[in-house]
Amino acid sequence: MDYDFLVTRALEARERAYAPYSGLRVGAALLTEDGRIYTGVNVENISYGATNCAERTAIFSAIAEGRTSFKAIAVGSDLEKTIYPCGICRQVLAEFKVPVIIVSDSKGKYRVYRLEELMPSAFEAEL
Ligand code: THU
Repeated sequence: MDYDFLVTRALEARERAYAPYSGLRVGAALLTEDGRIYTGVNVENISYGATNCAERTAIFSAIAEGRTSFKAIAVGSDLEKTIYPCGICRQVLAEFKVPVIIVSDSKGKYRVYRLEELMPSAFEAEL
């Protein structure tokens, strides 16, 4: 499948990142089962631990709008090299079973992974 459109949306979203502390702007674009796209950016905070990554912003925004089934998420940043989701974001991607993760460099060159590849043996429990 061609994910150019989703990567483009992630890199466009990146322009709206709030990243005054790290200077690294990150954007994400999440494709829902019903064909909608929710974007997200990293939102930093002077209390650094309060920062939210682009991937989680996109997912939380979709959940808040009532979307719970997803096809794929794309992420890209200002970095020339490909950016990969952090551990916390991988846990959230696992929670909502986002099956395909597209990681891009700043120019839109991307690689496609299955969730299981980036988050093998994810924590599951009968609670
Ligand atoms: N960041 C993301 O938004 N997504 C990632 O996948 C990795 C890191 C953000 C968090 C922080 O605002 C900045 O990048 C530097 O770590």
